[in-house]
Amino acid sequence: MTSDPPTRTMSVPGGGSGGRKVTTFDLGAMKSRGEKIVAITAYDALFASLVDAAGVDLILVGDSLASVLCGEESTLAATVEQMTYHGRIVVRGTSRAFVVVDMPFLSYQVSVEEAVRNAGNILKQTGAGAVKLEGGFDVLDAVRAIVRAGVPVMGHLGFTPQSVHALGGHRIQGRDEEAVSRLVEEAAALEEAGVFSIVLELMPTVAARRVTEAISVPTVGIGAGPECDGQVLVLHDMLGLNEGFSPRFLKRYAELGAAVRDAVGRYAGEVREGLYPDASHGYEAGGSDGDGG
Ligand code: KIV
Repeated sequence: MTSDPPTRTMSVPGGGSGGRKVTTFDLGAMKSRGEKIVAITAYDALFASLVDAAGVDLILVGDSLASVLCGEESTLAATVEQMTYHGRIVVRGTSRAFVVVDMPFLSYQVSVEEAVRNAGNILKQTGAGAVKLEGGFDVLDAVRAIVRAGVPVMGHLGFTPQSVHALGGHRIQGRDEEAVSRLVEEAAALEEAGVFSIVLELMPTVAARRVTEAISVPTVGIGAGPECDGQVLVLHDMLGLNEGFSPRFLKRYAELGAAVRDAVGRYAGEVREGLYPDASHGYEAGGSDGDGG
């Protein structure tokens, strides 16, 4: 009997950090204890399993997938169907971290009823723990109604990418006293509406500190300095896969873009020169040994 060629199955190592699943209560308790919350984006089961095993507390299935994965100019193109699909496969690869799925543009702005239905369906169909939506005073009714329906909500203030055109591009928010006061008031209103945490994006350190001190739910910063209760980065950016993107706030912890180019370039060279595959990569006729990789 000849062995079948190997099937290409993905190895999901699962949460190496051990312990039970992180909850919204754990995240709140981390703020009280002064422990930093570590958050990162993931869009699929393989990367989710890797970042989960590395011990992150929160995985965000960001609508940034529209630009990072799909090459769109902004996050505006993301759909509920996409977020649901990617949310589901991220949850499949996650053992310990708390998973939050972004609500895409127009899925919560049109009416409170639609917002609740979309948030509920995202939670129901992905198995995630919460949804995130962008905005302050304008989204309070939607936040209240979604929370009332039993869906935990994460807020998002400062630079809100779904409003990139209204904000005049990727601009730092909260630069003057009036803008900082508004951020503080919006954060307090979001807390009152029931959010369990708020992402603070692209704002001066002092603005993020003022918001963080003003509310009792944890803030998670990106481009908001070191004084938030936690940090979040887009995985592909910090791994150096998204090489064209290098804002000041970003720290790259690897150069995987270069590593991929190098590995694929060497593979291409070896195939063209007849060096790969060689005899050691072939199968014997009549053998019965399996090869699952
Ligand atoms: O979509 C996303 O990845 C985000 C993060 C930048 C916070 O919202």
